[in-house]
Amino acid sequence: MSPIPKAELHLHIEGTLEPELAFALAERNGVDLPYASRDDLRAAYSFSGLQSFLDLYYSLMAVLRTEDDFADLAHAYLARAREQGVRHAEIFFDPQAHTARGVPLDTVINGLGRALDTAPETYGITTRLIMCFLRDESAESALETFESARPHLHRIAGVGLDSAEVGNPPSAFREVYARARAAGLKCVAHAGEEGPPSYVWEALDVLGVDRVDHGVRSLEDAALVARLVADQVPLTVCPLSNVRLRVYDRLADHPLRLMLDAGLLVTVNSDDPAYFGGYVDDNFTAVRDALGLDEETLRTLARNSFQAAFLDEPTRQAYLAEVDAHRA
Ligand code: HPA
Ligand code: ZN
Repeated sequence: MSPIPKAELHLHIEGTLEPELAFALAERNGVDLPYASRDDLRAAYSFSGLQSFLDLYYSLMAVLRTEDDFADLAHAYLARAREQGVRHAEIFFDPQAHTARGVPLDTVINGLGRALDTAPETYGITTRLIMCFLRDESAESALETFESARPHLHRIAGVGLDSAEVGNPPSAFREVYARARAAGLKCVAHAGEEGPPSYVWEALDVLGVDRVDHGVRSLEDAALVARLVADQVPLTVCPLSNVRLRVYDRLADHPLRLMLDAGLLVTVNSDDPAYFGGYVDDNFTAVRDALGLDEETLRTLARNSFQAAFLDEPTRQAYLAEVDAHRA
């Protein structure tokens, strides 16, 4: 059975770095990794929360140095995504995690862009790039990053906010979001993953986001749920990530079904699939099995992914028709 057609809207390209590619790039670039083997590296993928994951995630990025490295990373993701039924992918990248290591922004964007340019023809996937600011860096650093990206804005559909959430509320980034919006970019932000519902309110009311990434902790605030439902603000939920990062103990405890029943515009995504045990269709299958979701609910999730995507209307309708035509 072919996987249901879907859009992936919450995917960090750096989080698709599989151990095999990490070791290959380490060798190509003469980078020493503090792991004896791929299995040794995989064995380190046991996280106590977001920060313990981020420490490993940023350290492994040391292998990404050249335009070819970023192109190879994106090609590897696109090949996997095609197998998972992805027809459209909105892909995050973290410029500051690379420029801070001395890798120029041009290298990152040109490398990713080179692979993404081939995606419709080679993989049957349309793509958008979303540039994320690191919220544990300063607002000034985000502004500098945005200004240095201006020559590349034709390649960038939106801005996002990621990295360590607790203690780093969205409101600090008001100015850079205002500039991004003025430049015609879409706005998203991670909020309500480990952080409180107030961060989701700030993402909506201070940053003016078009979508919220994660947002699962919104359920703790009934007025916030009512707002998200009324405005049909999409939430890009990542179930396997939430379990690996200990937001929920078990997938069976995940509130995805509650969120759908509340009328929220929920989508299912993979976040950092090389680290969290599955790509996007693996997330669909895992929630189906753990929560007992039926085919109609999975179809709703697939339809939601295209409803929530940054697509022009004819393309959106064409993808929705593919979902409707897909029969298990
Ligand atoms: N949360 C915050 N930052 C991130 C994540 C996440 O789940 N994945 C990669 N960067
Ligand atoms: Zn994320």
